[in-house]
Amino acid sequence: MKALVAYFSQTGNTKKVAEAIFDELPDEKELKDITELSDLEGYDALFIGFPVVAFGAAPPAKEFLESNAEGKKIALFVTHAAPEEEAEQEGWLQNCKDAASTAELVDFFDCQGELAEPVAEALLKSGNPMFEEFGRRQPETKGQPDASRLERARQWARGAVSKF
Ligand SMILES: Cc1cc2nc3c(=O)[nH]c(=O)nc-3n(C[C@H](O)[C@H](O)[C@H](O)COP(=O)(O)O)c2cc1C
Repeated sequence: MKALVAYFSQTGNTKKVAEAIFDELPDEKELKDITELSDLEGYDALFIGFPVVAFGAAPPAKEFLESNAEGKKIALFVTHAAPEEEAEQEGWLQNCKDAASTAELVDFFDCQGELAEPVAEALLKSGNPMFEEFGRRQPETKGQPDASRLERARQWARGAVSKF
């Protein structure tokens, strides 16, 4: 089985999760930044990850999936600054899944990632009350994804790979 783990990551969180997933996959495998890829051809198992940006999939990942995901079996993984249990999260994660609506979603993983300080500062100055609220919560996100979240990603990958 040939697997691809592809990610889009602006501040490194989704990349850390991608690397944890990659470590768990057997056999032939590749780890790539989405921006290095022109398509998703030639793989048996596709793991694709990106951050939540403005309550949905990060635009470059969304655009990439819209152009390349049709008819493919894909396991998605996402990171977000809000805690996993946050009530609004369900809708935001659904927006992420919708970015791959032309694909067959075989599995899905999400976990918290740190809100980078420059991003928090920009959100605080955005003039948008919802973004400002996010910016104020930056300290709660520090150090994420931590070792336990990365371990959860590894466990998830071991189960997800058997679904292709
Ligand atoms: C412009 C922008 C908008 C964001 N919007 C959200 C959001 O709506 N919900 C959320 O939980 N996190 C949001 N985040 C935080 C990122 O999803 C989080 O920090 C993520 O782990 C970043 O992943 P990366 O390091 O792979 O880029 C946003 C970050 C940026 C830069």
